[in-house]
Amino acid sequence: MNNLIFDSNVIIDILTKRDETQDLSSEIFIKAILKKKAFLSVSQVHNLRFVIKRNYPEFYQDYLKIEGKIEIVKTPSYIDLENVLAKVDIEDYLIEISAKLINGLIITRDQKFLELSQITISPKDYYLKYKNSHTKIDFLDLKTQYLSMHNEMDKAIDNIISNTAFIGGKSLTDFNENFAKYIGTKYAIGVGNGTDALIISLKALGLKPGDEVLVPANSFIATSEAVTNAGGKVVFVDCHPDLYTVDVEKIEEKITAKTKVIIPVHLYGQAADMDPIMEIAKKHDLKILEDCAQAHGAKYKNQNVGTFGDLASFSFYPGKNLGAYGDGGAIVTNDDSLFRLCKMFANHGRIEKYNHEFEGVNSRLDGLQAAVLNVKLQHISDWNKNRRRVAELYNKYLADVEEIVLPKILSDVVPVYHLFVIRTDKRNELKDYLKENNISAGIHYPIGLPFLKAYDYLESKPQDFPVTYEYQNKLLSLPIYPEMTEEMVKFVSEKIRNFFV
Ligand SMILES: Cc1ncc(COP(=O)(O)O)c(C=O)c1O
Repeated sequence: MNNLIFDSNVIIDILTKRDETQDLSSEIFIKAILKKKAFLSVSQVHNLRFVIKRNYPEFYQDYLKIEGKIEIVKTPSYIDLENVLAKVDIEDYLIEISAKLINGLIITRDQKFLELSQITISPKDYYLKYKNSHTKIDFLDLKTQYLSMHNEMDKAIDNIISNTAFIGGKSLTDFNENFAKYIGTKYAIGVGNGTDALIISLKALGLKPGDEVLVPANSFIATSEAVTNAGGKVVFVDCHPDLYTVDVEKIEEKITAKTKVIIPVHLYGQAADMDPIMEIAKKHDLKILEDCAQAHGAKYKNQNVGTFGDLASFSFYPGKNLGAYGDGGAIVTNDDSLFRLCKMFANHGRIEKYNHEFEGVNSRLDGLQAAVLNVKLQHISDWNKNRRRVAELYNKYLADVEEIVLPKILSDVVPVYHLFVIRTDKRNELKDYLKENNISAGIHYPIGLPFLKAYDYLESKPQDFPVTYEYQNKLLSLPIYPEMTEEMVKFVSEKIRNFFV
């Protein structure tokens, strides 16, 4: 269902039952309310109250109840008074520009509005269109998330712009404090992105040219790229055949006299098996940098990921569980001197303005992103809970499909399902079939890190990383996001089932 703005004439139809199309309008309206897709432009509110109070006073209280259930969408201040619709009817024009902000359609009976705007539709036409529409499931739906909190978000963003607090400022100090508290570390430092968070952390750990860093073969390139960019040498370790995170049994055989750091990646929102990793690090005197880009809030033995290692990095890329409205990242630590080094390195090697103790980089989380993240941080626990709900539903509806392997989770891990990854021999065919059925699935990752052109120089062979090599053709990520309904999960699961019969 689309986001719908209801024109004032349709709201009055529904309220007073004055028009023969009101049954259709009411049906659309009720469905839209239930799905949180019903909107009014803020420009309508005054007029609607005024007209109903004056012409239909007996319905005024009912109207106020309805109004309380509808989302109010803002009207931008950048209006074009030369616009044709604006010249004919400024009220309709204001509704139209509000609707454009939410990619919405306007339900109206006003013939002139229907003719002059491309995004208006009559109740009857919308009813027919909706009835015959096909369900489409995107891989990710950030719009629905924004609309679920757009008032808070708009206020936070407006506040940054009106105070011109673009770099540093209260939103950033608040975020650093709030995020450290959420993860359970002494410090958090907002930086430019998750890749920089890894590079800066490795620099702070004192990585020297030729130092080796162990990286899982199954991850996003940022994990290994950071090692090279920090001056180290990448050494890959194969992934576990059931968990897809680093295979802890294969770590020690890769350790040499030059090994300095292990980077466990909490992949797909699962936690890497931290107990044995910490033991190995202790035994060989290695540092641990946790890559938590995909696992904000995931727990291993009642402890948040990001609290085990010397340092941990996070990404706030928009599609992550905690995503900014642009690039962003953070480093967390309990160590006073690592905190100071990371903070300085991310800001030209300084604590005070113009007092540069060494050369660093410019990698700061900006004020706008910090403000966005402060709003989202208040919702992350609910969103992660909802991701687990969606995962449980997939597990229920796909339990008896023998051709696929569902995600396996270590006991004592509370995952946050950044991705819901299944395994099947018919991965590519299934992905294409889902696409034909309007369902977007993803592949994480189609080429294992050792087999990327970027790492040709390491001359890795399939038998060096047999699990990663095999799984690059078998893993498939199904759509998962907190706002997915049971109906949507059922729809995807049924299509998967149909594919295999
Ligand atoms: C495992 C992993 N590490 C690091 C990163 C890098 O984060 P960013 O894109 O914010 O630089 C990502 C992001 O995609 C990731 O998935």
